[in-house]
Amino acid sequence: MIPYEHDEWTDFSLPENREAMKEGLSKIKSELGREFPLIIGGERIETEDKLVSVNPYRKDQVVGKVSKADKELAERAMQSALETFETWRKWPVHLRADILFKAAAIIRRRRHEFSAAMVYESGKNWLEADADTSEAVDFLEYYGRQMLELDQGKTVISRLNEKNEYFYKPMGVGFIVPPWNFPFAIMAGTTVAALVTGNTALLKPSEKSPVVAARFVEVLEEAGLPPGVLQFIPGDPKEIGDYIVDHPKLRFINFTGSRATGTRIYERAAKVHKGQKWLKRVVAEMGGKDTIIVDKDADLELAARSIVSSAFGFSGQKCSACSRAILHQDVYDHVLNRVVELTGELKIGDPADPDVDMGPVIDDIQFNRIKEYIAIGKQEGDLLTGGETDDSQGFMVQPTIIAGVEPEARIMQEEIFGPVVAVAKGKDFDELLAIANNTEYGLTGALLTRNREHIQRAREDFHVGNLYFNRGCTGSIVGLQPFGGFNMSGTDAKAGGPDYLLNFLEAKTTSEGL
Ligand code: ALA
Repeated sequence: MIPYEHDEWTDFSLPENREAMKEGLSKIKSELGREFPLIIGGERIETEDKLVSVNPYRKDQVVGKVSKADKELAERAMQSALETFETWRKWPVHLRADILFKAAAIIRRRRHEFSAAMVYESGKNWLEADADTSEAVDFLEYYGRQMLELDQGKTVISRLNEKNEYFYKPMGVGFIVPPWNFPFAIMAGTTVAALVTGNTALLKPSEKSPVVAARFVEVLEEAGLPPGVLQFIPGDPKEIGDYIVDHPKLRFINFTGSRATGTRIYERAAKVHKGQKWLKRVVAEMGGKDTIIVDKDADLELAARSIVSSAFGFSGQKCSACSRAILHQDVYDHVLNRVVELTGELKIGDPADPDVDMGPVIDDIQFNRIKEYIAIGKQEGDLLTGGETDDSQGFMVQPTIIAGVEPEARIMQEEIFGPVVAVAKGKDFDELLAIANNTEYGLTGALLTRNREHIQRAREDFHVGNLYFNRGCTGSIVGLQPFGGFNMSGTDAKAGGPDYLLNFLEAKTTSEGL
């Protein structure tokens, strides 16, 4: 087995790669409007009622229509997953892992198709979509290998006349609820982690990105995933979400999304229902209010570039996005001017255009929410650039910088999930750190400094799950920077890390007298 290596992002400066991506876009364009069924126990089921997925850059363009599960179909999916668990859990681990490796190979060969699907369905530009595809491949390759390792069990001490063993077992049926912002990577990663560990699952993709998910499920089938291991049940969260979370036969939930939904799931899953024999496990990865600190002796150009790319990549719609920049008073003006200048150079527009840096935001709900926050921000600080919005054709929000904001301001405290960054000033390192930690979240953060003592202080006291030095705060890589946050950012499950699969396994000890 070759060791795990991160799947490199595509170099679009090469003409052949640009051509390949254009072909991917044409293929997906020719399939716009395609319909996708539910899949339960391997059976394809069409429903009257459908989720209609549209291009956020052209809201009248239908990307795909996906059949929708109701409670009855959710129950069928549960029964199918329960039944298949009895055989799937006994599959040799290497055979389960092989399905992941095969799926990764299929995706690598067709990578631009998947990236193109995200350009149309999610408004990702070429680079962001390509990185999302790479991350999906990485999860498949990494979790396959991690499971092979875990299958060896861990060493416990035996003694004379006593043999002790310690190993891992699958748990049962899981409910996978991924977000729309990494519609391929996180959706695929959270799904296959549950499957490679020997569980069966119900996948309810985000209603904002069901088409990418449907295409991935087709890949898993092509890679040999047996029918009934994964049920594909898009649907309205209000209609089927609680029903599945409350189900007494459900064993675990793997959720990534908003804080409101995550805390709701956590609370509901705690209740033991009639006929339920276990405490449900919940992985809930939620939001962030992520900060970049710029110290007085930082590389200021690097600092400005890091803020702009982390704040406005994918229109600020990453849980890891920089939504707060906290600058030392000595460098405040310089860095802020440069951030505004660089922001002015960003090309905003159609994400299908190779030169576009930033496309739309995902939908009308997010568009209106961001607009409201911009209005609040204008009261709380000085609007330096951006602020304009336009939803006549798609959901466009200009990259927005609001400076001179107090630490307690709403735009410093509440997650916006859009291209809006609040900037505050601190008089010394202690104050910079205190402002950064003044949040209920704790997902990512970055410190730009040349002061090694401050790096050490931040390692200890900057309370975030992913802390970066002298770079931006987005773009964790599977196997290199395991990802997950503290506090209201979630359960710190550390996706893409060496402990992640343990969330979906139970450890068993055996002891035999000899
Ligand atoms: N892995 C994603 C990032 O770090 C969430 O931006």
